Amino acid sequence: MKEKDSVSFSHENSLVDLFSRTISYLRLSLTDRCNLRCLYCITEDETTGKLSKLSHDDLLSYEEMLRIVRIAVDMGISKLRLTGGEPLFRRNVMHFIKQLAALDKLDDIRLTTNGVLLDKYGSQLIEAGVRKINISLDTLQRSRFKQITGKDYFQRVWQNIEQAIEMDFSSVKVNMVVMRGINDDEILDFARISLEKDVQVRFIEFMPVGSSTSWRSDTYMSMAEIMKRIETLAPLHALAANRLEGPARTFRLGENPPGTLGFISPLSHNFCDRCNRLRLTSEGKLRSCLLSDAELDVREVLRQGGSDELIGQTILNATRNKPKGHALGGQAQGESCYGRMSRIGG
Ligand code: GTP
Ligand code: 5AD
Ligand code: SF4
Repeated sequence: MKEKDSVSFSHENSLVDLFSRTISYLRLSLTDRCNLRCLYCITEDETTGKLSKLSHDDLLSYEEMLRIVRIAVDMGISKLRLTGGEPLFRRNVMHFIKQLAALDKLDDIRLTTNGVLLDKYGSQLIEAGVRKINISLDTLQRSRFKQITGKDYFQRVWQNIEQAIEMDFSSVKVNMVVMRGINDDEILDFARISLEKDVQVRFIEFMPVGSSTSWRSDTYMSMAEIMKRIETLAPLHALAANRLEGPARTFRLGENPPGTLGFISPLSHNFCDRCNRLRLTSEGKLRSCLLSDAELDVREVLRQGGSDELIGQTILNATRNKPKGHALGGQAQGESCYGRMSRIGG
């Protein structure tokens, strides 16, 4: 297939925001749909009481996504993370991922998944070149998994995680969102996984995202408190920071464990000053901050027949609009933004 002409922004990264942050990481939400119903993520519409889903026409087609990604890569995006909803839940996802992998200059494609469909797609992902995956898991207890996600898939997900660790992925991370009173009694059990397996277990501070989020200040637990609990097991040793990685600070627990621990603390240690990311929602809105509802509609530009240059300009405008940061602290007062997590992709 003949590559279309590159946009005129190519050669070096032109995506620098007003605070001198270079944007090189795009999070692409493939769908707002999901095969789970996590209590903090999928929320009902406040007026209809139903789950709101995007219609097929609202969603960007794979062809549209591919075009936007190609232009963004020409402008300097070098890391792409596929998110959702559940990205593997969208039909023909592997065909799309193979097309992405064939794009020139894009050699870092990662995936964040709930792990349910990894038994079906694990090997195909590796074959397509997706070597780094993050798997969301908030409990190690079957009955609690059902309470948190609405589905009885714990055993399947856990088996898929164990299998993924044995497969040829170069990195497997497990994401636990810590919620006081809901799963904080499992912090040590999660930390212990890193003593047994070659995996990075990440503890994430619960963020107030979405209009009817289940976040409350008493369900929030700060990273300092989480770390203090873990240090009752063994000392935490900080590992060198890798700028290509996301916002996690990484540690090893005790001496020579096979795995590592990561801590993501958006509320207590805001990492906005080194934020390098842009998000594209499944209905084609460019969002320059997870916690701000300011969005630019690139789908509209594209469907109005916009040229590659105009689409590139929209990406540049989203970059320029990137806020300096969020102002939430651990004492945030409920929702920080209206957008639902399942739409934005975390
Ligand atoms: P790596 O590339 O493996 O470092 O992944 P990542 O941490 O960037 O991605 P992942 O999808 O695993 O996200 C982990 C957690 O970090 C989720 O709870 C995200 O919502 C949160 N997160 C990721 N990026 C941002 C960000 O820019 N701002 C905030 N506040 N949270 C973020
Ligand atoms: N706060 C923190 N992390 C969240 N995630 C989803 N909702 C929240 C929230 N409110 C996590 C998921 C997934 C990642 C993309 O974001 O568990 O691992
Ligand atoms: Fe699905 Fe992830 Fe949302 Fe859970 S957090 S409902 S797995 S999209």
